[in-house]
Amino acid sequence: FENFTIEATASAVPKRVVTNDQLAQIMETSDEWIVQRTGIHQRHISTDETTTQLCTQVAQTLLAKANLTADDLDYIVVATMSPDTLTPSVSAGVQGNLGAQHAAAFDLNAACSGFVYGLSVVRQLLIGDRQKHALLIGGEVLSRLIDWQDRSTAVLFGDGAAGVLLSSAPAAEGAWISEDLRTFGDLGDHLTAGQLPSHDPFTGQTSASQPYFQMNGRQIYSFAVKQIPQSIERAVTQSHLIVNDINHFVLHQANQRIIQAVANKMAVESALFPVNIGEMGNTAAASEPLLLDQLVTDGTIQRGDLLALTGFGGGLTVGTVLLRY
Ligand code: ACO
Repeated sequence: FENFTIEATASAVPKRVVTNDQLAQIMETSDEWIVQRTGIHQRHISTDETTTQLCTQVAQTLLAKANLTADDLDYIVVATMSPDTLTPSVSAGVQGNLGAQHAAAFDLNAACSGFVYGLSVVRQLLIGDRQKHALLIGGEVLSRLIDWQDRSTAVLFGDGAAGVLLSSAPAAEGAWISEDLRTFGDLGDHLTAGQLPSHDPFTGQTSASQPYFQMNGRQIYSFAVKQIPQSIERAVTQSHLIVNDINHFVLHQANQRIIQAVANKMAVESALFPVNIGEMGNTAAASEPLLLDQLVTDGTIQRGDLLALTGFGGGLTVGTVLLRY
């Protein structure tokens, strides 16, 4: 077994929907500004749902859809930048909730590229001489990292979880084709969140916490429009395929204008770049599996289709995985 197949997709979002007009009631913004700049109309915002609860719901649906039980799982990997606690991890919570006795579970943080990085990691885990099964879930409650006084970031993010059940498969039947992962740590200050406070009892030195998103939007925008096409090109170059073979470009949903600019730059018709940012906002590591699940469920993505999944964001990071669904 040198590859994996995607057995099932699933998602779970918080009950509450917050529209742009509702945001305009608590901050100085407007539906018009948000839609024009980002394409976002609404987002799901958790009331009491935790990242672990949303991911557990996804995990249960994945097992049911794939006709497997918790005992069949070898790995549970959750990609998240908004875990409920640093320890235990979200994935350990999911493992415990499922009672998945044979599964090793850990979280992975590559911000909005987390799902794509996760596909690469899980592929390696599934290689071996027996068939293994893994859950890869992207889950976020980003609303806990939002400074509701900062309209420039508060309008962008949403909460949700989604994922895939992957089973190891022989090379010839596998879904994974090629990948490109890159990290630009020197640009990390352009997007930060979750800095813990510190107090050194030996020197008396303290530093305050900065839990909330701080973002240089313009820099991230330029980074994304430059790096996404290059990442897709590099992944394609490593395969026996060409860009024109790709049926669906499943990009991280951060901003509709970024996606449109990438389509223009690559001279690919924008119909091949599906979007759900209008309903979901930016859900970081959950955004690509949420879109993937939606497209599989409504029949847009069919077995045999060639997908380019590309994430970008905090780190800064960028990554592409080419898959045959
Ligand atoms: N409502 C109304 N006005 C606003 C709002 C708002 N919510 N936010 C900012 N403004 C104002 C600003 O104050 C500014 O006013 P000024 O001209 O009087 O100073 C004006 O709108 C323009 O602000 P900019 O920040 O220059 O707007 P820009 O066109 O750059 O759009 C945006 C901002 C949407 C954030 C854009 O830069 C963007 O999408 N960048 C990419 C961000 C991104 O993708 N981040 C996430 C990636 S990583 C991850 O997913 C975790």
